[in-house]
Amino acid sequence: MKKINGISVYTYGNENNQAVIFVHGFPFDNSMWKDQVNALKENYFVITYDIRGFNKSDVGDGQYTMEMFADDLQMLIENMNLNNPVICGLSMGGYIALRHAEKYGGIKALILADTKSQSDPDAAKINRANGIRRINEEGVGPFVSDFIPNTLSAKNKLDNHIVDRLVIEAKSLSPKTLKGALLAMAARTDTSAYLEKIDFPVMFVCGKEDNLTPPSLMKELADKVKNSIFEIIDDAGHLPPGESPEKFNSLLHNFLGGLE
Ligand code: MLT
Repeated sequence: MKKINGISVYTYGNENNQAVIFVHGFPFDNSMWKDQVNALKENYFVITYDIRGFNKSDVGDGQYTMEMFADDLQMLIENMNLNNPVICGLSMGGYIALRHAEKYGGIKALILADTKSQSDPDAAKINRANGIRRINEEGVGPFVSDFIPNTLSAKNKLDNHIVDRLVIEAKSLSPKTLKGALLAMAARTDTSAYLEKIDFPVMFVCGKEDNLTPPSLMKELADKVKNSIFEIIDDAGHLPPGESPEKFNSLLHNFLGGLE
């Protein structure tokens, strides 16, 4: 791990290979991509990182914006001299990846998993506010204990081993981080209008049992992007990279292998 301007960055494989940067979801960290790192590091230069505030990255004052997260991604690309990286973002990582691509360009291809382009409607903003209030009143534990099961398929939700591991990891995050990220998500811009302008390859992937960003919603995004690929993974909820790594990795291999 190395720190670049307060962001903890993890690199794997030969830096002369095509760079693929993975951007994690909320409330997770770089480790959600461990199966993808193992699958790709032989043939790609794989980069994962902890979004500002998460895990080993600096928490700072917790006053985050989606713009700041997108700027951090560009800062990493420039600092590491990466040429036309492929970016893969899941959920909040997808919000970051889309806004980053809209703002900066310079992307070879995008993989968007279980995410959306729409900004939060009022009901979702109110839900974020309730989450912040709950963290203030009860701490991080009860919030993440309720949030995490919603990210899993019906089967995985019942698997205490999976749920407990994710909850324990998320519980170690600072309240400042979680509240800051909730505010950043509530205040993010809508990137829907950008979808029609995208002129590079995009693959959309969604878990069939994703209740947070369901396949029907992701299909609408995919329909707006020229020549995009849309894939559904049967036995996964909101976290296919961890819930169904073999299928997710096989889609990654096919997509990346088909890029020029
Ligand atoms: C995520 O997985 O990153 C979150 O569910 C995104 C969100 O809450 O909008």
